[in-house]
Amino acid sequence: MKTVNDITALRQQISEWRQQGLKIAFVPTMGNLHAGHIALVEEAHKHADKVVASIFINPMQFGANEDIDSYPKTLSDDQEKLIAANTHLLFTPTADIIYPKGLDQQTYVEVPDVSEGSCGESRPGHFRGVATIVCKLFNLVQPDVACFGKKDYQQLQVIQTMVEDLSMPISIVGVETVREASGLAMSSRNGYLTEQEKAMAPALRQALLWLGEQLEQGKQDFQALSKQAAGKINLAGLNTDYIDIRHARTLAKPGAADTELVILAAAHCGKARLIDNLQVSLAKS
Ligand code: PAF
Repeated sequence: MKTVNDITALRQQISEWRQQGLKIAFVPTMGNLHAGHIALVEEAHKHADKVVASIFINPMQFGANEDIDSYPKTLSDDQEKLIAANTHLLFTPTADIIYPKGLDQQTYVEVPDVSEGSCGESRPGHFRGVATIVCKLFNLVQPDVACFGKKDYQQLQVIQTMVEDLSMPISIVGVETVREASGLAMSSRNGYLTEQEKAMAPALRQALLWLGEQLEQGKQDFQALSKQAAGKINLAGLNTDYIDIRHARTLAKPGAADTELVILAAAHCGKARLIDNLQVSLAKS
């Protein structure tokens, strides 16, 4: 695997592959890779001849009081994992390369509706930062296919919508969440959890599963159900940020006739902010 950090070297390799008629799949990451990221690389291999990954801790998607300074940086471990997963090229730009004029002067991409609510409400500006960096990386890598984890469900919808709205010729593939044996969704931020918090954290997933069952049983008082689920999460020692029942594709508040739903949830557990979700398909009445 070649690692490049400048745009010229990246473009040169991509254009060689393009001239050879090869298909390119892309896995953007912020590093500190775990089995969930490797599942993205494995999925990427199914769709293309060459797999490109990137590691860039994107300052534009972090809020002022968030963890950009403590976000784990584990480049050589990450490189080993990517090599073992047969990644062909790793792009590791610095912030100066990506945002040479600084964040304030940077053109940005804002995806309406799906970016609002849930994480969009708790982390103002977060999805603008995500859409902007992903758009920029897409322009640099020019992939045919890009893979994203379903753990970041709202992010996946933001990117899918951006690609559709801006007519980007890229297929977006959503990859199932990889979980610990406890059910906890793998995340680069799980490293912030103490042993005691690791034992508490699966309560988020358990509350989602409980809420999913209620919906499948035909219960429709979404607000009361979400409140009850949040109570369960809080009882386990976490602090619920939100728990929202939404339409699975538009993320709009669902009506009684909607059958494709997603439950989105976030909760604080010690220093970590955990997110998870559950898709629920209801039988048509
Ligand atoms: O999911 C992530 O790791 C990041 O949000 C992404 C997509 C790499 C953009 O910085």
